[in-house]
Amino acid sequence: MKTVLTYGTFDLLHVGHINLLRRAKALGDKLIVAISTDEFNAMKHKQAYYPFEQRKQILEAIRYVDLVIPEENWEQKISDVQKYDVDTFVMGHDWEGEFDFLKEYCEVIYLPRTDGISTTKVKSDLSEH
Ligand code: CTP
Repeated sequence: MKTVLTYGTFDLLHVGHINLLRRAKALGDKLIVAISTDEFNAMKHKQAYYPFEQRKQILEAIRYVDLVIPEENWEQKISDVQKYDVDTFVMGHDWEGEFDFLKEYCEVIYLPRTDGISTTKVKSDLSEH
């Protein structure tokens, strides 16, 4: 039984998110998604459209996702990997190299992003109309 873990905001879900989740799940048997809490987003000067509980509910309804947990700070990754017995840590390649310190604890894989879409782009495109 292989466990995969990934992190993100996952606000205004789009096909780039789905591609990432599908590929992440295909790397193992169980996919855990850690999503940023509203408080953690505020610390990063970001604000999601959907509050944490709604982003969590939406992700839980996706067939590739087995468990959704909160991401509350930058420091929790090592303890999450240990707590959930994670085999593979996955992020989009916009984070290439950033989490190589986890290689001591598990496999680290950066997946290609889907071109031409992001939550930021959806928000700005909609605000123009
Ligand atoms: N992701 C992806 N392809 C995209 C957009 C996101 O593979 N086109 C991946 C990211 O690399 C990350 C995960 O989806 O591993 C969650 O990303 P998130 O930051 O929540 O999504 P974005 O759309 O990039 O959000 P924002 O514009 O707010 O940064």
